[in-house]
Amino acid sequence: MNSERFYITTPIYYVNDKPHIGHAYTTILADVLARYHRLAGVPTHFLTGTDEHGQKVQRAAEKAGMTPQQQADATVVHFQNLWKRLEITNDDFIRTTEPRHVRVVQACLQDLYDRGEIYKAEYDGLYDVTSETFVTEKDLPEGKKPEDLPNIVRIKESNYFFRMSAYQQWLIDYINENPTFIQPDHRRNETLGFLRKPLQDLCISRPKSRLAWGIELPFDKDYVCYVWFDALVNYISAIGYKSDDAMFAKWWPVNYHLIGKDILTTHTVYWPTMLKALGVPQPKTVFAHGWWLSGDAKMSKSLGNVVNPMDMIDRYGVDAFRYFLMAEMILGQDASFTEDAFTRRYNADLANDLGNLLSRVANMTRRFCDGKSPALPAGELDAESADVRAAVLRAVESCFSLVHGMRIDQALADVLAAVKRVNKYFEVKQPWSLAKQADPAELHTCLYVALESLRILSSLLQPVMPGKMEALRAAIGLRGPCTIEELRQFGIFPVGRDVVEPGPLFPRIEKKAPATPPAPAPAEGLIEYADFAKVQLRTAKVLEAEKVPGADKLLKLQIQLGEEKRQIIAGIALHYTPEQVVGKTVVVVANLKPAKIRGFESNGMLLAASSGDQLRLVTVEGALPSGAAVK
Ligand code: ME8
Ligand code: MG
Repeated sequence: MNSERFYITTPIYYVNDKPHIGHAYTTILADVLARYHRLAGVPTHFLTGTDEHGQKVQRAAEKAGMTPQQQADATVVHFQNLWKRLEITNDDFIRTTEPRHVRVVQACLQDLYDRGEIYKAEYDGLYDVTSETFVTEKDLPEGKKPEDLPNIVRIKESNYFFRMSAYQQWLIDYINENPTFIQPDHRRNETLGFLRKPLQDLCISRPKSRLAWGIELPFDKDYVCYVWFDALVNYISAIGYKSDDAMFAKWWPVNYHLIGKDILTTHTVYWPTMLKALGVPQPKTVFAHGWWLSGDAKMSKSLGNVVNPMDMIDRYGVDAFRYFLMAEMILGQDASFTEDAFTRRYNADLANDLGNLLSRVANMTRRFCDGKSPALPAGELDAESADVRAAVLRAVESCFSLVHGMRIDQALADVLAAVKRVNKYFEVKQPWSLAKQADPAELHTCLYVALESLRILSSLLQPVMPGKMEALRAAIGLRGPCTIEELRQFGIFPVGRDVVEPGPLFPRIEKKAPATPPAPAPAEGLIEYADFAKVQLRTAKVLEAEKVPGADKLLKLQIQLGEEKRQIIAGIALHYTPEQVVGKTVVVVANLKPAKIRGFESNGMLLAASSGDQLRLVTVEGALPSGAAVK
């Protein structure tokens, strides 16, 4: 990693709600990058925090019957606790309600006001209450009038404006002259596209009469600062801007502002122009990653498909969760989260390849070398061993260079390819056969090369799986992480270290019962009506629904089928919450033989349509009494 120091930030998250997988993702990504830089010996500063002012938070507080500060205090704990559980190594955590931040925001406002960069004017126009932004007719969805949209209101009020429009051409030129400023490239093009329309001045105030929860303008106590103008300043207030010049000089400009693609404009238009007006150098790179989807769908509360990181950690452990997120998302693109994909990758990469390698190396060393790491016999390595050494050393270089290029998924794939190579080495060498030879040299070479490979490869994976890699290293007698120099050398594994029974590092996840009853075999040709008539399809109303304990895909439903009440076990829990199905009129196969599923009687089968990872229940249009025949 080619810089003398590394400063990385995440967005500061709104405290209107608890964290979900998207927040966890950006923060883990920042943590992984910070850890790789520390591993490379680069002084690193990693900042995250919370965005506590503005309408979103005020509304959440009103709903919860609290003051906004109480709302923030109650919610920030969920973020802080999650970061602890996820082993996030942030150096600082900034809350925008802290005095150290408020002071800097006010100093920036005053500075810009004094220099005429902020002016007061009457605003008469449209306001989007959801995004808290002033909008014009042409920002509205095609063909919609303001009256059609509940989130759009017309307001007329005096406000303060930042002369953002003055920087439009400067910004376009800057982006064009600095190709790594906005990454990936398609995001740079998106911002340049946005800048083709004339840039407006930015309204940076809200009258207290409308929104009181914010930082007071130092030059007008009737107004608070617009939440985005306040929030963006966190990246410099936390490192001593206008308060600790030495610290600020040390860390600014930031190497990476990591963000999701939802907040590209604020970070690549508002923020650069604000910095320009303040006379502060630009960030080196604003990097916008893609979206985690739930299957193919956007995660949203109303769809009930938001992945809760705490649940995943409880079930599969912190390290497996971190690994999956990092290995699965190609940075810059969207990625799909499904439990199936998680299980597949976990079993293949972690349980099979990595877990297996450790248990083989440890077992062979215990059986044939009394549990002590052997010395490397003198002389040249044989061709097969030398090839393993080359593969492992290549993995070191490619891993660091890919991480540097923000190709974390590929970096991990390369390390895992080296793990596979060492597994293959065992198959070729067959240490259990070598152990029968009188001269132990070949056996010792084999175990030494495997142990040394594990030392290096586990260090490369440590930024992603800190806890498990420490456990792995402890099992082969190593303490603490390697330095970058130790990673680049093959042949320094200490002799006589205790190699112990590691226990299962990544126990296999066994496949659960099939989620949905297996699809019937494709029909061969046509059927008679009489065949179809054998299947009694009837409508039923769902009265109650609950999860089946220990089976994350199953819901236990009580349904009303005409006069009759029945219980059905349905494999729909990844797609519907119990609350979502209660009250629905569904279609069931009423004359299916009863079956026991996970110990529960299931009397009938729900019909659902599925495609890829999506699944939707078959329902009937309009109201009909339950028990109606479907023909
Ligand atoms: O926007 N996939 O905060 P926020 C991937 N306070 N990442 C996701 C995601 C998903 N489905 N959902 C959220 C704000 N994220 C402002 C930021 S910064 C000065 C102020 C991540 O709580 C992603 O990083 O809405 C996204 O940009 C961020 O959470 C938005 O968090
Ligand atoms: Mg958001």
